[in-house]
Amino acid sequence: MPKISAPMDYFPLSVAEGEAFCNRLEEITQLKTCIEQLRPVLLVSPRRYGKTSLAIRAITQMKMPFAQFDFFSVVEESDIEKVILQGAGKLISQMETIPKKALKLASELFDGTNIRAVLTKVGVSIEINRRKEKPAYYVLDILEKVERLAQKADKKIILFFDEFQCVGDVASNHAMESVLRQVAQLTKSIAFIFSGSNRHLLNQMFEDRTRPFYKLCERISLDRISEAAYSKHIQLAAKAIWHTEISSQALDAIFSATARHPYYVNLLCSRLMRGKLPDAEMVNQIWYQYAKEERSSVSSETELLSKNQRKLLTILARVGETKAPLGSEFIQKAKMAKASIEQSLNFLEQKDYIYKDENGSTKLLDPLIQVVLSEDEW
Ligand SMILES: Nc1ncnc2c1ncn2[C@@H]1O[C@H](COP(=O)(O)OP(=O)(O)O)[C@@H](O)[C@H]1O
Ligand SMILES: [Mg+2]
Repeated sequence: MPKISAPMDYFPLSVAEGEAFCNRLEEITQLKTCIEQLRPVLLVSPRRYGKTSLAIRAITQMKMPFAQFDFFSVVEESDIEKVILQGAGKLISQMETIPKKALKLASELFDGTNIRAVLTKVGVSIEINRRKEKPAYYVLDILEKVERLAQKADKKIILFFDEFQCVGDVASNHAMESVLRQVAQLTKSIAFIFSGSNRHLLNQMFEDRTRPFYKLCERISLDRISEAAYSKHIQLAAKAIWHTEISSQALDAIFSATARHPYYVNLLCSRLMRGKLPDAEMVNQIWYQYAKEERSSVSSETELLSKNQRKLLTILARVGETKAPLGSEFIQKAKMAKASIEQSLNFLEQKDYIYKDENGSTKLLDPLIQVVLSEDEW
């Protein structure tokens, strides 16, 4: 049967891989150096800027066995353990691809412990027998065994802890962090990558000298992708789809709508790609159409804010940006006391509602919230 391949998705809404991945060359080099030298590294950016995509890209290029632990949905300490167990099972299956051999390997590894390996349809799965100890105890055990396995196989491996701030959030006694620090400092075979999107929680975990992760990691902060890199990337896709480039006006319209926020660039472009070669007007029309569809979801998100915070966000959305949010002009517009503006701004920045761009202008971080709040006559 002829092989039917799905059309290339140049603008995925999930992890960007292959040709869908744009630039980030410096960050990839930096990350790969950390991996090679087994230096623990922390990737930081607001949500949906491309941390997972970047980590997976660098990891795949290293061609090393790896495990990805996604902590996004953990709500209690035992969930952390579960995520690590699952990842460790997959890792063993990667290091030994023949299932029966993988099971034997895992069984030998965990012999004499309360941890048991079983074979499932998707490979080796690791379980805990009669539990007596706290989750951190088993996590330490598993990571030590993973280290031993890597040494035995004479291979270096990568452990990628994604949305790591959730670990600090659910595990109050920091036992899990201590265990991870212990392994990360002593390891001779494991490269640790941590990533996280809540800067406030991450700073608490990584910058507080009383916490186990203090000064453990090198930090890579992800910004938005440059206009030059995005232009090249979008035009390559345009040539593949319409056999011609899109106009510079249409490109500008894409950048001005999305402010180069990676998720929204992909969202807008994936909608554009379904139609004919777009001009600037079509770009705007499709963007406003999307904003209309999402109005109620934006409202429910901003409803979580206090009255002052929402007011400030709305004013900022209307003016677009300001270099002096505490200057007299902005204070007059806001009709709020300087102290309450300052307080609200701090909150909004901490929660990633606003950010300072590369020119020092304060703006809304999410271009969808920006367009919805600034168009309130709809
Ligand atoms: N380097 C990149 N090139 C193109 N698109 C990207 C890139 N990085 C991320 N994206 C896109 O941005 C969105 C968020 O990416 P993701 O890696 O999930 O971010 P995060 O892990 O920071 O939340 C996705 O739609 C993804 O396809
Ligand atoms: Mg992610």
